Amino acid sequence: MTDTQLAIVILAAGQGTRMKSSLPKVLHPIAGRPLVGHVVATARALSAQYVRVVVRHERDRVAEAVQDDGADLEVVDQDEIPGTGRAVEVALERIPSEFGGDVLVLSGDVPLLEADALRALIETHRASGAAATVLSAQMSDPTGYGRVIRGADGTVERIVEQKDASPDEAAVDEINAGVYVFRAAPLRTHIRRLTTANAQGERYLTDVIGLLRGEGETVAASVAPDPRVALGVNDRVQLAEAAAILNARIVRRWQLEGVTILDPATTWIDEDVVLARDVTILPNTQVLRASTVASGAVIGPDTTLVGCEVGEDATVKRTDATLAVIGARATVGPWSYLRPGTYLGADGKIGTFVETKNSTIGERSKVPHLSYVGDTTIGTGVNLGAGAITANYDDLAKHRTEIGDEVHTGSHNVFVAPVRIGDGAKTGAGAVIRKDVPPGALALSVAPQRNVEGWVEKNRQGTEAARVAAAARGAEKADDGSQEQDD
Ligand code: UD1
Ligand code: CA
Repeated sequence: MTDTQLAIVILAAGQGTRMKSSLPKVLHPIAGRPLVGHVVATARALSAQYVRVVVRHERDRVAEAVQDDGADLEVVDQDEIPGTGRAVEVALERIPSEFGGDVLVLSGDVPLLEADALRALIETHRASGAAATVLSAQMSDPTGYGRVIRGADGTVERIVEQKDASPDEAAVDEINAGVYVFRAAPLRTHIRRLTTANAQGERYLTDVIGLLRGEGETVAASVAPDPRVALGVNDRVQLAEAAAILNARIVRRWQLEGVTILDPATTWIDEDVVLARDVTILPNTQVLRASTVASGAVIGPDTTLVGCEVGEDATVKRTDATLAVIGARATVGPWSYLRPGTYLGADGKIGTFVETKNSTIGERSKVPHLSYVGDTTIGTGVNLGAGAITANYDDLAKHRTEIGDEVHTGSHNVFVAPVRIGDGAKTGAGAVIRKDVPPGALALSVAPQRNVEGWVEKNRQGTEAARVAAAARGAEKADDGSQEQDD
């Protein structure tokens, strides 16, 4: 790009009535980021001297969403005068009057434009010497957009809004994307002349185009090669369209980076996710909120990862996991529920119908079946028997369970926290562990079994059970003459 100075104005003050939402429109997320966040990220990539974001409706929430680290980004408050023209006017007041470069105007609800397309728009604008260059697109259904009206010679004359358009104008399929580059000086001069004499009673930025032409200035329109990048989000139908287009773009980018994604239509990946080469993502899987997946891992089918870290060659199948770390070669699922603070070590396993929370499960340790593990630290080489439950909550506070290395527990144990199981210890089936178990001990808490011989024949006379029991006992006696079992 030439070294002309650039200022960027992002319009984000509107309510977004058509969303019918208590959340401001520009804060509705796609690919894990608010609409306006995508626009701000793109703006950042252009290294402008000034970035101004205009807010009004729910100004604090919008301001918070756009104000990250950015020293060059300033939030500007629009007053009660409505319209995109007014929004740009108040932004210009926050750009030094001596600024003589170009002003790129972006809409907070047009999230799919990429920095390269905007660079090309700025280049076209500078090469033509126009006072303004509009980004336009040919839409098969232009309903709702402003139309670009060209004269007989093909030059842009003005933009007319849908609500103000005559039938002939409404039939035009070249739309205004709501993205423009202006030379600062003529923009400042003519934006003051906007009126509210239109169907919506607003000061339209689009009217600046007609005003510039009226003063003999040149205005150009640059037609986007792919109309989908110009999609504006006004309602939730368009929100879903934008989300799908962006997702398809993200999926494709990862496929070209060496990630196998077999079913793009049912795979959702947030913008800030990082996937290594030779990751495989199977159908119906969402990888969200800055999750990272290392090489060789297989995720899915039917899996949701939110803010997770998955190690090399791990497999995560039919699982819901949030803020969990899964070690290399570990296996998770099917039907596992990993809640925040779960750390599964390398070669570990969290199996079927297992819920974990705020727990570390060490290397080579396994929780294979039907368990709840919460507020627990498990060492290495441990096997928790099927149906292990950590009773971490006593109605007043949460307590921790600590399990050492190489511990093997029987099936259906309850660990009543706070409790500690020493290294190498074992527990019997059905144990309720209320006291610490020393290293190497066998902990039993179930009363010894007692068999009452002949109970069924005596108390359930005449039933089928009594009949087969009597027959079996007769056969047993004939077999070896033994009568009673040990307690
Ligand atoms: C606008 C354009 C239309 C274009 C379309 C592209 C105008 C008058 N119309 O229409 O030609 O085809 O975008 O998507 O500009 N905003 C403010 N302050 C306001 C009003 C709006 O900052 O007073 C912001 C909104 O938050 C939004 C953007 O400007 O991010 C566009 O506003 P919106 O009401 O969606 O305009 P459209 O009717 O879509
Ligand atoms: Ca819009």
